[in-house]
Parts: sequence; C-alpha cells; structure tokens
Amino acid sequence: MEETKKVALITGANKGIGFEVARQIAKAGWTVLAGARKEELGTQAAAKLQAEGLDVQFIHVDLDSPESARTAAEAIKKQFSKLDLLVNNAAIAGKGDGPPSKVNVEIVEAVMKTNYVGTVAVTQAMLPLLQAAGKAQIINVSSELGSISQQTDPNWKYAPVKVLAYCASKAALNMFTMQLAYEFRDGSIAVNSVNPGYTATDLNGNSGPQTLEEGAAEIVRVALMEAPVTGKFLETGAEIPW
Ligand SMILES: NC(=O)c1ccc[n+]([C@@H]2O[C@H](COP(=O)([O-])OP(=O)(O)OC[C@H]3O[C@@H](n4cnc5c(N)ncnc54)[C@H](OP(=O)(O)O)[C@@H]3O)[C@@H](O)[C@H]2O)c1
Repeated sequence: MEETKKVALITGANKGIGFEVARQIAKAGWTVLAGARKEELGTQAAAKLQAEGLDVQFIHVDLDSPESARTAAEAIKKQFSKLDLLVNNAAIAGKGDGPPSKVNVEIVEAVMKTNYVGTVAVTQAMLPLLQAAGKAQIINVSSELGSISQQTDPNWKYAPVKVLAYCASKAALNMFTMQLAYEFRDGSIAVNSVNPGYTATDLNGNSGPQTLEEGAAEIVRVALMEAPVTGKFLETGAEIPW
C-alpha cells in the first residue's frame, strides 16, 4: 500500500494533451494512473513514460462505460486508498458536428454522452477516493468554445465555430464544475475548468498552433498549486468568462 505519494488519474492519457499532462505530473514526483479506453494504447503510453523513469501505470477507463469507472475506482482503492487529483481530459470532437440548425441529433447525443455524461460518471465513481485524500482536486478539461459569454459576442475570434455538440458538451461540463465546486466549498476538493487552448492534436487534425507542452501547461500549473483555487474557468495567463 503506497500512502504518502500523491496519486493522479488522467483520463484519455494515451495521447495528446492528456499524455503530456501525465508526463509532467509524474515528473513532479506523483504516481500517475494513465486512463485509456483501449488497453493496448494505454499500456504503450504508460510504457513510454516508464522508460523515462516515471511512475506511471495504465488503468482502463472508458467514458462510455460507467462500469469501467467503477472497476477502476475499486482497483485504485485497493492499491492506494485515495486519489489526490482527477483530470477529466478525455473527450471526442464528434465527426459531422455542425451548426445548431442542422447538426444530426445523433451526433449531439453521442458527444454529450461521452464528454459530459461520461465525465460525470467517472467523477462520481472517483469522489469517495478524492474525499479520502483529505485535500484533492478535480480539473475538467474544457474549452473556450464552451463559454456561453464568449459565444454571445459576434466579433469573438471563434464566433464562426458553431459546432453545437462539442460546444454544448463543454458548456455542460462547465456547469458540472461550478455545481461541484459549490458542493465542496469547504475546500476539501477544488474543482476547476481549464481551457488548454488550440493545440495540435488528433482532435482537430493537428491544426492547432500550440504544442502539447503549451496545451498541457495550465492544467499542470493548476494541478500542482499548493493551495488550489476553486470554481474557476482558467487558461494560460487568464480567467475565461463562463
Ligand atoms: N486540442 C485542442 O485544441 C483542444 C482545445 C480545447 C480543449 N481541448 C480538450 O482537451 C482534451 C484533450 O484533447 P486532445 O486535443 O488531447 O485530443 P486527442 O489527442 O484526440 O485525445 C483525446 C483523448 O481522449 C480519449 N477518449 C476519447 N473518447 C474516450 C472515451 N469514451 N473513453 C476514454 N477515453 C476517451 C482518446 O482516446 P483514443 O485514443 O482511444 O481515441 C484520447 O486519449 C479534450 O477534453 C478536448 O476537448 C482540446
């Protein structure tokens, strides 16, 4: 039983921003549980980080399977008895997503199910472990596309990006952040949304201008805060209006 070392679970850690967050949190001396829905990819990612001398292990977490989250929570309880940090990073963009007037409702349903319902399910499964840590943190990896305030501005740089399913899933995720932060306002669990910024990953066909290091930076900064803020929507160097 390892009790003193801090333990983090990062969902969707087999690639992209989640992989880089896993690397940097592990470099800070934490045990990192690299969540992935596909065992082969998760094992390969963990092995890559282990080869860098980091304390990382694969754990099966599929946002579309609440059962996988419950099983993962049982395994974490057995091995560590607690969880200090949950980074809800995994998400999909939703192929065929589009504007509210015509996007296929099946796409809206699928994206909401994975990005929002799946994240709520994983978080609920992990809450007893986060509470057992005494002081813990949840970071919901959101997007500025989920900011309703920004979406009201027709001159905003991303105003033309009206992909309803993805944007609504992140707006709903932000509501989850706010309400959960209220529930844990005693300070036992800090809950924040973080926008990594437009980063080159498979999610956007590697079109983003930021590197993975830049995309991971704010998530890692917030994760490693000594006295974390709570109920915030953050990005590198700024707070985003909800
Ligand atoms: N990249 C950007 O510009 C950008 C901007 C703002 C916000 N974000 C957010 O940043 C986070 C990371 O995205 P990314 O850009 O790094 O994308 P990515 O490279 O596509 O990585 C997404 C990760 O989520 C996993 N995933 C997808 N569906 C899953 C499920 N049902 N269960 C478990 N894991 C699942 C993927 O696993 P597989 O390999 O199995 O598909 C992958 O590991 C997301 O929340 C995204 O919305 C990204």
